Amino acid sequence: MTPSNSAIASVIEIESWLEGVEQRTARVGIIGLGYVGLPLALLFSEERFRVTGFDIDAEKVRSLNEGESYIHRIEGDHVCAAQKSGFRATSNFAEIASMDAVLICVPTPLHEDHTPDMSYVVATIEGIAPYLRAGQLVVLESTTYPGTTEEIIVATINRYGRVRNVSVLRDDAGLGEPEDDLDGVMVAFSPEREDPGNMVTPRRDIPKLVGGFDARATAAARALYGSVFRTTVAMSTPAAAEMTKLLENIYRCVNIALVNEMKQICQSMGVDIWEVINAAATKPFGFQAFYPGPGVGGHCIPVDPFYLSWKAKQFGCSTRFIELAGEVNESMPEYVAQTTVRALERNGTSLPGAKILVLGVAYKADVDDLRESPALTIIEMLQKGQATVSYNDPYFPAVGHGRKYDLHLESTSLDDLGSFDCVLIVTDHSVYDYERIVRESRLVIDSRNATRSFESSKIVRC
Ligand SMILES: NC(=O)c1ccc[n+]([C@@H]2O[C@H](COP(=O)([O-])OP(=O)(O)OC[C@H]3O[C@@H](n4cnc5c(N)ncnc54)[C@H](O)[C@@H]3O)[C@@H](O)[C@H]2O)c1
Repeated sequence: MTPSNSAIASVIEIESWLEGVEQRTARVGIIGLGYVGLPLALLFSEERFRVTGFDIDAEKVRSLNEGESYIHRIEGDHVCAAQKSGFRATSNFAEIASMDAVLICVPTPLHEDHTPDMSYVVATIEGIAPYLRAGQLVVLESTTYPGTTEEIIVATINRYGRVRNVSVLRDDAGLGEPEDDLDGVMVAFSPEREDPGNMVTPRRDIPKLVGGFDARATAAARALYGSVFRTTVAMSTPAAAEMTKLLENIYRCVNIALVNEMKQICQSMGVDIWEVINAAATKPFGFQAFYPGPGVGGHCIPVDPFYLSWKAKQFGCSTRFIELAGEVNESMPEYVAQTTVRALERNGTSLPGAKILVLGVAYKADVDDLRESPALTIIEMLQKGQATVSYNDPYFPAVGHGRKYDLHLESTSLDDLGSFDCVLIVTDHSVYDYERIVRESRLVIDSRNATRSFESSKIVRC
């Protein structure tokens, strides 16, 4: 194929875009400055990009512009360092026009009936579409069902005439049909794969999947992410990248459900599930260890599988693994509450009036995130049984009202552990002194195996 003049123009266009990335003159806009968007903004700032963060939450914008962080694991100093590279936050979406790349990191929760709540993604793209211009790269990072990038992002931009005929693009050089290219916004999907609280794998070492809507979008997104992540993985379509993210989280959800079920079987047979998992993990192939717990929480594992079930139904497909895993994981708080009741009774205390201290309310160790936390469900169950429940969590001085809970409690000190009928470990934060907890408590219910190093008749593992 001989390149036409406009094909040559297209090559120059993408080359100058890539050069902007290389030279760090490309401006990066990040929409949604939460657990995903803020660290991402700081990562790009560290690599000397001039980053603008966009959020509708005026309080977050104010904090960041004053050099403060509202996420526990991010220091204010880190935000101040980013400011020196030009980072600032704003709620003025007209500034999208001056960005070269726009990365969308807004929430994708569920409605009450477990169907996807796409309102944040829709509001975002509707809000920015009027400011988008040809040659910009728009990447959706929010976890979502396969087809979202095309059905919502591209379709909305198309209504403003900014992505034209992109699905028929691609020539021998993989650069696409140039006339359409030049007029269009480049669109891609790149899922966020961060593991909050994981201090072992730095974020830049997690390979970044990129599925562009055409070859030019993939090339642009790979170049951008390749300047902050060590590895990028090109995918054939945004839908393939969307599905990959769901597979990863569903794989996790199903395997956690499996070990949660195995835990209950082991317990009724008097076998130690933790010993079994650790022994199985010595096999050099064919087994990956997952660990049981009080149930799953966070923005991802309890939510994302339902995105696929919802979409799969539209294709007449059933998702039996997903539903079964959801059922087992959702039953775990009840299992922990029942174990607590039985252990108290064996100690001569009935649940009504029992004083119970729950350790850790975050959904997992060492994170300041309460979303979908099983601890909240367990507290409500024990309260319904008329126990007096207190909690301690270094990340949450108080717990109020949320999507699925209404507690209004303040974190209790650990000074008088012996005053509680039992201490229930729900979240195994690493700051806890478990030796002291076992020594000073009258009864310890451990749903995380946090007390594995200690032998005591006071400990009930569940
Ligand atoms: N938290 C995680 O560990 C994690 C990991 C992988 C993927 N994800 C996915 O990343 C996405 C974001 O999750 P999160 O945990 O960062 O959510 P979050 O709630 O912490 O942050 C989202 C931010 O978006 C802002 N926002 C909402 N609507 C907006 C709009 N129209 N315009 C601008 N800003 C808007 C909110 O004010 C908030 O600051 C979700 O799809 C989630 O599933 C999260």
